[in-house]
Amino acid sequence: MERIDKLLASTGRWSRREAKALVQEGRVLVDGVPAAAPEQKADPACLQVDGERLELQKYTYVMLNKPEGVLSATEDARQKTVLDLLPPELRRRGLFPVGRLDKDSEGLLLLTNDGDLAHRLLSPKMHVDKVYYIRTDRPLAAEDQEAFAKGVVLADGTACRPAGLELLGRGDEAFVTLHEGKFHQIKRMIASRGAAVCRLKRLSMGTLVLDETLEKGEYRLLTQEEVSKIGGNR
Ligand code: URA
Repeated sequence: MERIDKLLASTGRWSRREAKALVQEGRVLVDGVPAAAPEQKADPACLQVDGERLELQKYTYVMLNKPEGVLSATEDARQKTVLDLLPPELRRRGLFPVGRLDKDSEGLLLLTNDGDLAHRLLSPKMHVDKVYYIRTDRPLAAEDQEAFAKGVVLADGTACRPAGLELLGRGDEAFVTLHEGKFHQIKRMIASRGAAVCRLKRLSMGTLVLDETLEKGEYRLLTQEEVSKIGGNR
C-alpha cells in the first residue's frame, strides 16, 4: 500500500502535482470508488485512472533531446547533467544514459534503468548503428568519404571500423554512421582528415530515432513499440 499520488507519479506519466489534480477531479478510482484524497493509501492493482488500470512498468526508458552544455552523466559536483533535465519522479528511478554524448554534442540520448538493455546496445558485438548529423569547418570531399568507408586511423594510431559519411549540401554538412563508440570518435575521425567538427547531433541509435518534436532539453517516455524494437522489457 502506497500513497495514491506517489503511485501515479511513479509511473512517470504524471508529476506529483498532476497526480493530485487527477484525484481531485475524481478521475482516480480505488476498487471502483473515487479516491478521497491524494494521500490515501492504496494497492496499485486496485487503481484505475480514467477507467484504465495502472501500468506498473519494470523499467523506464526516456528519450532526451540533449542540448549542448550538459554532461552525459548522472551527477556532477559543479556542472549540469542530463539527469538535471528530468523531473524528480523520473530522477528517483536510477536512470543513467546509455552511452555518452560529449558536453558540446546534442541530440538523441536514451536514459534507462534497464542495465541489460544498456549493455546490449553498447556491446560492440551487437553492431548497433548510430547516425549523427555533423557540420564541419570546411567542406569534406569524396576522398574523405572513401577514407571513412575504409576505416580511418586516428592520430594516436587507433584504427576505426569502416563508417558511413554521406555529404550534404556544399559538403560542410554530413550524416555519419558509426558501428562502434570510441571516445570523441567523430571529432577525432574528422580531425584525421584535417577538418574540425562545429556541430554534432545524434539522430538515431539502432531502431530508436530522435523525435524531432522534442525541443532541445525536452524528453518523453519511449512508446511501447520503441521499447520492443530496441529490445527493452517494460
Ligand atoms: N563522436 C564525438 O566525437 N562526440 C560525440 O558526442 C559523439 C560521437
